[in-house]
Amino acid sequence: MPEKKLPFTCEQLERMANTYPTPFHVYDERGIRENARRLNAAFAWNPGFKEYFAVKACPNPYLMKILREEGFGMDCSSLPELLLAERVGVTGEGIMFTSNDTPEEEFIKAKALGAVINLDDLTHIPFLEKCTGLPALVCFRYNPGPLKGGNAIIGHPEQAKYGFTREQLFEGYRMLKQKGVTRFGLHTMVASNELNPQYFIDTAELLFGLAVEVSQELGITFEFVNIGGGIGIPYTPEQAAVDVERVSEGVRKAYETRVLAGHPPLKLYMECGRMVTGPYGYLVSRVRHIKKTYKAYAGLDACMTNLMRPALYGAYHHITVPAKAGQPCGTLYDVTGSLCENNDKFAIDRPLPELASGDLVVIHDTGAHGHAMGFQYNGKLRSAELLLREDGTVVPIRRAETVEDYFATLDFSALPTFT
Ligand SMILES: Cc1ncc(COP(=O)(O)O)c(C=O)c1O
Repeated sequence: MPEKKLPFTCEQLERMANTYPTPFHVYDERGIRENARRLNAAFAWNPGFKEYFAVKACPNPYLMKILREEGFGMDCSSLPELLLAERVGVTGEGIMFTSNDTPEEEFIKAKALGAVINLDDLTHIPFLEKCTGLPALVCFRYNPGPLKGGNAIIGHPEQAKYGFTREQLFEGYRMLKQKGVTRFGLHTMVASNELNPQYFIDTAELLFGLAVEVSQELGITFEFVNIGGGIGIPYTPEQAAVDVERVSEGVRKAYETRVLAGHPPLKLYMECGRMVTGPYGYLVSRVRHIKKTYKAYAGLDACMTNLMRPALYGAYHHITVPAKAGQPCGTLYDVTGSLCENNDKFAIDRPLPELASGDLVVIHDTGAHGHAMGFQYNGKLRSAELLLREDGTVVPIRRAETVEDYFATLDFSALPTFT
């Protein structure tokens, strides 16, 4: 079986874990930058190409700043995410605001920042107009329904709560035109963790065709098409990463045949999260207890608070024990956390080297939808985040939560007199 690589040596890992208490997530700056440059280079044929990093995947301002330096925008979907982008110095059309069931204050902030506002429904047109006025540039999220197959995480598009139907799109753009909007975008987001490159080529082709059709019927010109995120990553050692050059080549061909014949040049946007930071994050944890009953359990000091994808979706995350690399994986372990839920397991029946209390374990591919999905159920606290810099140094980019954070929303002062 091919083994997954780590960006740090065993000695560096020991040093990190002796300096910062486990568990923690550590991100690899070099990997993130090289991957970002590769994506930008692959799509350089499109002069307006921009990847808007899906902030929800890893909302850490230090990583966001790195991505800003690499030319990425920010895809935000809530007020705190908009505020984070602003703190990182990303404003204006460097932000794409894609929300749903949106409260007024979020539209107000997005408009004040000059973000590209992507509407989820026809009724949001008058709502946005009433709360803050329509901006010059408006985008709609398209839900292609049965025209596009979904997957286990995102579900089938026709069952999804997001976006406009095809008929609603025509009606919506007509409405925008009447109301004086002059700049238009078209967006969709139908995939999640999809490893088939053709899926993204087909999505681009669908959107290009639709943009040209709407443009010709309504006499409007589109500025951009956003094909969404959802590029998958190889969570298992046997899987291969999506070949972004191949995706780019297919999208370019679709662009040349679908767009250039019937429409002025369009900018191509994307909003990936997972493929941008996912493979470059590692959850480092120590084995706390080994327990043997009907099965063998390796109880870690991390739990599903730190990474809930395995419990939530049965997702696979590779686990390695760097100090025992090369040793036979002769024991099947359920690798668990300490939360009082039986699905608090990072792996079930995973062949690993013989483990002992104190061993350092690395859980791979935690850089997206990892720390970000954390919660405090059962009084479990979110961990620190560290950054492995390109020069090999390690810096903390978020401290671990404390019991004081857990209590921060409580006022104990009234408790003594409360009966
Ligand atoms: C609107 C939108 N855009 C982009 C993303 C990023 O998806 P991924 O991290 O799979 O690329 C998501 C994920 O939930 C999303 O909801």
